[in-house]
Amino acid sequence: PPESCVSLTVNGTRRTVTVDNRTSVLDLLREHFGLTGSKKGCNAGACGACTVLVDGRRVNSCLTLAVRLEGAEVTTIEGLADGDELHPLQQAFIDEDAFQCGYCTPGQIMSGVGCIKEGHTGSPEEIREWMSGNICRCGCYVKIVRAVEQTAA
Ligand code: FES
Repeated sequence: PPESCVSLTVNGTRRTVTVDNRTSVLDLLREHFGLTGSKKGCNAGACGACTVLVDGRRVNSCLTLAVRLEGAEVTTIEGLADGDELHPLQQAFIDEDAFQCGYCTPGQIMSGVGCIKEGHTGSPEEIREWMSGNICRCGCYVKIVRAVEQTAA
């Protein structure tokens, strides 16, 4: 199958890789770069478990082709903490106990970071609306919204 060479920055590190043109960003991260924090829930854009930031914007990495990311900057859950210091939203998820099984959590946190950056945090309703692409099967929404709200405040 056709392949392409892609150069991109992942969590601050420049990487160049040759991939099958059909490779998703999610598979690039997980299988080529060993960054398994981004989860494959549905692989079809319906759950948000694979959410990462591309040039600061939220993206479902399962729906995005790796070859589209030439020159892009990608941030995953692995790149969020500053050394030993968690990102404030990571800490808020712990403080608020905003997860049960944890499978959706990396996507929730990346989406929450995007939501805060975009300024969609005026009320719990607004946060719910703008985080609605991220599904939590355990039903931790109240605490997830609270963690985002507290971090944005
Ligand atoms: Fe990408 Fe579900 S795995 S949205």
